[in-house]
Amino acid sequence: MEWVAKVRRLVYLVHNLSGDRYNQACFKLTHGTGLHRMNSESSNIFWHQPVVTREMRETRNGHRSSVVWFTGLSGSGKSTLAHAVEGFLHRRNIQTFVFDGDNVRHGLCGDLGFSIGDRAENIRRIGQMSKLFIDAGVIALTAFISPFRVDRQRVRMMVDNDADFLEVWCKCPLEVCESRDVKGLYQRARKGEISDFTGISSPYEEPQNAHLIVNTAELAVEECVQQVVNLLVVRGIVPKMP
Ligand code: ADX
Repeated sequence: MEWVAKVRRLVYLVHNLSGDRYNQACFKLTHGTGLHRMNSESSNIFWHQPVVTREMRETRNGHRSSVVWFTGLSGSGKSTLAHAVEGFLHRRNIQTFVFDGDNVRHGLCGDLGFSIGDRAENIRRIGQMSKLFIDAGVIALTAFISPFRVDRQRVRMMVDNDADFLEVWCKCPLEVCESRDVKGLYQRARKGEISDFTGISSPYEEPQNAHLIVNTAELAVEECVQQVVNLLVVRGIVPKMP
């Protein structure tokens, strides 16, 4: 009944877009870049059914796979939190992998900049990569600004089962991120040396229905880790752990 799932996803996507005119504009913009051709270039291809399935991997791992999508401003603590969660889970034999925006842009997405279209493509690639990691039985922890709702929504649509996607908003006021300015990028963006900088010259669209909002401005990293782990336990992705 794959077509039923496809129709359901399409209806869901259209429903979400129709409620938000800005998202519609973004959607049109990214389509204007040629991104709409992304899935239609390959023809005469066939899906090969794997011998070792996701379910077999999950059974062997003793936990479910999923994508935990950390979103937030630069300097909001996404990478720190994603890596700290990974450390916690790894010590308890949970299979994980962190996709970090800055790291991925050194390789897989090194050809992309920070225009709306390039960010959409960045997020699409990571979405597809996360989907493969779900099939591999792994919990993918992604740390990307992913400032546009429509891009995050698209990833949510990509994964076959809505329950496999958890959006975690690292909520930290711009003033706090800017005062930290670990990489010195905010200062350069204010001077006009970096264009399209999120929070300064490019928008960040706050999540409207994140599965979890972590107050990274005020909580210690360990407390934030505990909140994310609790979410995974409540969702039945990992067993309750000491
Ligand atoms: S995203 O918007 O496409 O999701 P991503 O998370 O991959 O962004 O990359 C963000 C990182 O790139 C930031 O943490 C920062 O170090 C760096 N960066 C460089 N230029 C920009 C910019 N114009 N806007 C935001 N981040 C930038």
